[in-house]
Amino acid sequence: MADDESGDGQLEARLAEQDAFEPSDEFVEQANVADESIYEEFEAEWPECWTRAADLLDWDEEYTQVLDDSEEPFYEWFADGTLNASYNCIDRHVENGDKNRVAIKWEGEYGETRTYTYQDLYREVNEFAAALRDLGVEEDDVVTLYMPMVPELPIAMLACARIGAPHSVVFAGFSAEALATRMNAAESRYLITCDGYYRRGDPLDHQSKANEGLSNVDHGVDATVVVDRLGDDGFGHELKANQHDWDGLLADHQGDRVDPVERSAEDMLFLMYTSGTTGKPKGVKHTTGGYLAYTAWTSHSVLDLEPEDTYWCSADIGWITGHSYIVYGPLALGTTTVMYEGTPDYPDRGRLWELVEKYAVDVFYTAPTAIRAFMKWGQEYPGAYDLSSLRLLGTVGEPINPRAWKWYYKHIGGEECPIVDTWWQTETGGMMVSTLPGIGTMKPGSAGPPLPGIDARVVDDDGDEVDGGQAGYLTVNRPWPGMLRTLYRNDERFINEYWDAYSDPDADEWVYFPEDGAKIGHDGYITILGRVDDVINVSGHRLGTMEIESAIVGVEGVAEAAVVGGDHDIKGEAVYAYVILEDGYDGTTEMRDRIVEGVEDAIGPIARPESVTFTPELPKTRSGKIMRRLLEEIANGDELGDTTTLRNPDVVSDIQQQAGGD
Ligand code: WTA
Repeated sequence: MADDESGDGQLEARLAEQDAFEPSDEFVEQANVADESIYEEFEAEWPECWTRAADLLDWDEEYTQVLDDSEEPFYEWFADGTLNASYNCIDRHVENGDKNRVAIKWEGEYGETRTYTYQDLYREVNEFAAALRDLGVEEDDVVTLYMPMVPELPIAMLACARIGAPHSVVFAGFSAEALATRMNAAESRYLITCDGYYRRGDPLDHQSKANEGLSNVDHGVDATVVVDRLGDDGFGHELKANQHDWDGLLADHQGDRVDPVERSAEDMLFLMYTSGTTGKPKGVKHTTGGYLAYTAWTSHSVLDLEPEDTYWCSADIGWITGHSYIVYGPLALGTTTVMYEGTPDYPDRGRLWELVEKYAVDVFYTAPTAIRAFMKWGQEYPGAYDLSSLRLLGTVGEPINPRAWKWYYKHIGGEECPIVDTWWQTETGGMMVSTLPGIGTMKPGSAGPPLPGIDARVVDDDGDEVDGGQAGYLTVNRPWPGMLRTLYRNDERFINEYWDAYSDPDADEWVYFPEDGAKIGHDGYITILGRVDDVINVSGHRLGTMEIESAIVGVEGVAEAAVVGGDHDIKGEAVYAYVILEDGYDGTTEMRDRIVEGVEDAIGPIARPESVTFTPELPKTRSGKIMRRLLEEIANGDELGDTTTLRNPDVVSDIQQQAGGD
């Protein structure tokens, strides 16, 4: 394919052939963790080794026990300790003489900028925390945040943390319906949102989506706060009853201070809804002590962050990556974290590199989908900027193919920056598998060994470890501080989803199953192969095929639908939909448009199907299960595997014909 060739053309043969890379002496000398003995130490001292993570925080009450595993798999970490996340991310830096250090550098799409020192953050978080209290928010009330990349988002998160109210951030790109589903599931009575934001030069109306979502919340909503991002470009929404303007609230609470609430380590810090195998998103529960310690520790050891660094993670805070590695990890360490409102290609394709140069970014963390896009656009964009401030690069969210890795290494890192390919999930809270940049040999395409203290394995169907060079399923055979504690109000689903597959409760063996396939090298390096459940990964965004299917089936005239992920050059995977219509409906362009619209309304534009194929039947096994594997093969134009177990083998060629005519 053309894209691949242009990527290849930019890599010299030398790089194309090299399959192992070492960090430079210069990097190693300054690295936070550079001694290989850390792996052994963590093993020898497990679980006490995790005090190293906890020691990165300030505790109100010291814990006496690191791990409480008396009720597996409901593990507790540092359980009798108390602390406050907002205090740890703000106050202690102010108190330690760093009040004038920049906490957040924000850049709007148009190039307007806002800078928050730790003192500025302290002031606004306190004022907003006071406002939340005034609106009636009490400790343990879930506050929903439906906001784009504006500084008020992390401020609201930290204000919630300050008063002990867990936040539930809903990605701004999600639809009104998705917002309502999440508010209903959490019985959240408070919403912080925004009038709109800028995308590719145009103001985008966010408030009508928020209002529409609110109208579908089943219980009463006590208060909504709206940030005015668009000013005169706004859409003229009036505030309704119970709706408040952010600036007005801050003005009313100017100078107010709220003492950080002493939270137990196991108290909930936040909820994050993520896609799973069923149509219903899962409310992943993270707690205050273990999560914060774990994100601080991995920010320190894997991202190598120092307080002096300017660090940029280009994810959206609406996803776990932004929670852990834009907000909590970096701020707990007192680092400067960069936030950018816009897209990488507006006003031009050099935008990110312009920002790296402008802010002299030291550490940059992004997703493979972005790297593949940069690669396609060409090296001249990064080539036009001085990227020499960079010290370390990272990737997350999906497998990175070796060529994209090498392109990143050469054209962004100038062959001087180590790359950490970090495997983790919403549920793990933080990074789990990655090389340590000051220690490990990097092998493009392979994330690396499990981090110190993490017991990740690749196993077969029976849970036995496979031999080097073999593929199987990834499992985690020991708990870790950043792990999810449960699915909100659904312990049963928590056990079904993550523990049932490989645990042996009778033998007291508890094994976490992340639902990823993986391969283990002879060197112990883990290569992630992707999800083995019905979750697909579009541009690093995790989507449930069932959620998309139920959106499609909700469209008038649709009888049945099956959705799979097909390979995509830039996005990694794209949504392929196969649809059976009811009698009397035809597979017209209009029908297709209505289906696409149905998905956008139910979830958001990120879930929009790349292709919709109408078919009279779906391939099913004799027991009536849709054979998704076959649909994936059809989507990818691959040779078809075994079809003998199909109840209706003829359907395959019908679908192929239909899809071909797409
Ligand atoms: C995938 C994102 C390969 C994986 C932090 C996982 C990866 C899912 C990597 C979680 C990586 C994440 N290499 N695959 N370095 N990192 N994944 O919950 O399939 O949005 O299960 O968390 O992304 O997605 P989530």
